[in-house]
Amino acid sequence: MSIGRIVNRLLRPLGLQVSRRSGDNDYDSYMTTPHLARRLREEVGDVTHRALTSVDAFPVPDRAGVQALVDAFFELYPSRPVAKNFNGSGFDNCLWLYLVARCIEPELVVESGVQRGQTTWVLRQACPDAEFHCFDINLSRLVYRDPRATYVERDWETRPFEGVDGARSLGFFDDHQNQAKRVRQAHDRGFRHLLFDDTVPVHKIYADGEPPLPTVSMLLDPLAVVGETYEWVCHGTAHRYHYTEADTHGARALIRDLVAFPDTSHITRHGRSSFPTYVRLVD
Ligand SMILES: C[S@@+](CC[C@H](N)C(=O)[O-])C[C@H]1O[C@@H](n2cnc3c(N)ncnc32)[C@H](O)[C@@H]1O
Repeated sequence: MSIGRIVNRLLRPLGLQVSRRSGDNDYDSYMTTPHLARRLREEVGDVTHRALTSVDAFPVPDRAGVQALVDAFFELYPSRPVAKNFNGSGFDNCLWLYLVARCIEPELVVESGVQRGQTTWVLRQACPDAEFHCFDINLSRLVYRDPRATYVERDWETRPFEGVDGARSLGFFDDHQNQAKRVRQAHDRGFRHLLFDDTVPVHKIYADGEPPLPTVSMLLDPLAVVGETYEWVCHGTAHRYHYTEADTHGARALIRDLVAFPDTSHITRHGRSSFPTYVRLVD
């Protein structure tokens, strides 16, 4: 293993890297021949329209309307302020964030897990007039600071939210914390529309360096059984997790719908996708 890779492995938990390869920018390769670029966007439009309409949780535009949103995102992404978002969301995760936020049109957005601010920027592009509250236990790595957002360098559980209109609010969790706990906390605070990143299914826990266990997908998966212990290897290091009832925070009963979005990165070839998932909570 190269020295660069060893150093990056040590830096990964801090969200840092030493590599300067152009490949770290997930949008430095793209189609420029117009009719072929169009074909790619239509493929993405097909998949995203199908997934968004698979759940009756928020209004979704018709096929042409979703295409217009997909096209808008393709135009927007090259202007993002965080070109190299190592350990953070790339093109495909950001696309789902943008589409769901455009459909829901929330007046209140809460984000937990900000890091450099890439996802804050995407959500701001989708919701220009919304009130934003951004939580991260370490805000020292911010590249994009939204001028109208409230930043809190603490876990969001330290902050009460009152009078939340569930239909017009969106919670986005990319903080690698227990997702069942986040469901419980969000429901208690009145949120009903949630987006999660890193919702790894139980048989793919190995694919996330810091899986937010239990993930929301595990809560609904018959393969994930309370009382069991799971073992895996991630980047050469062995891990284990013992799944307890206490870890579920009674969150199963709070989930009305869950849509694990399809991985569009195999269509766009713009890098990685990390299990973006929409959750509608019960009223
Ligand atoms: C993967 S990064 C977020 C990336 C960002 N959403 C993006 O895609 O650009 C995870 C972040 O969660 C933060 N974090 C860890 N524990 C947290 C907690 N308890 N509350 C809020 N943020 C936390 C870390 O400091 C880190 O910045």
